[in-house]
Amino acid sequence: MDGNGRWAARKGLPRTDGHAAGEEAIFDTVEGALELGIRHLTLYAFSTENWRRPPDEVRYLMGFNEGILVRRRDELNDRGVRVLFSGRRDWRVPRRLLRRMDETLELTRSNKTMDLVIAFNYGGRAEIIDAVRQLVDDLVPASKIDERALRKRLYNPEVPDPDLVVRTSGESRISNFLLWEIAYSELIFTETLWPDFRRENLFDAVREFQARERRFGEVET
Ligand code: IPE
Ligand code: MG
Repeated sequence: MDGNGRWAARKGLPRTDGHAAGEEAIFDTVEGALELGIRHLTLYAFSTENWRRPPDEVRYLMGFNEGILVRRRDELNDRGVRVLFSGRRDWRVPRRLLRRMDETLELTRSNKTMDLVIAFNYGGRAEIIDAVRQLVDDLVPASKIDERALRKRLYNPEVPDPDLVVRTSGESRISNFLLWEIAYSELIFTETLWPDFRRENLFDAVREFQARERRFGEVET
């Protein structure tokens, strides 16, 4: 979900107004994903690198994410959405936010319509490192380490690899998102800034995805 700051700057507003405007984009996209019958939707909300932003913006984002959970979790629960989180629960994440995350996880845990994974304090490299640490803690011998062994130690092993990754705001980078999981994902980069993103943009991306041929290293048959 990229482009909030630029969206705000274009309107002469503070960057944080761009984040606030992203809330409507999030929930319209969730509605669109539900309409399409998408089973898993992951949103990159805060990266392990985003701590480097000015303290005021970081503080704003912590409060904003907490607020979204409080404001929207009942609605998500009513829609049958199971909310999951992906990322490091380290000391930098405010306790109050961690508590809201746990409550939301608990509230929605038996929902089956769609998983909404919120990648928060998430980094793809950190996730791989954490999985490797887990392999070591589990005393897995080197000869038994394979893709399956590592994969099941990722943050949400029950969530399949994404078929499609969409990045907004005209940047053509992955920026440490789901590094392990995107090995064979289709990537779509769109110019739309995140606060302007709506379900129609998701539908466009899915249509483009459907037109692509996926071979997974094989040849066309
Ligand atoms: C993405 O928008 C939101 C977060 C990283 C939380 P940005 O804040 O990165 O917006 P730009 O890239 O400055 O426009
Ligand atoms: Mg950005």
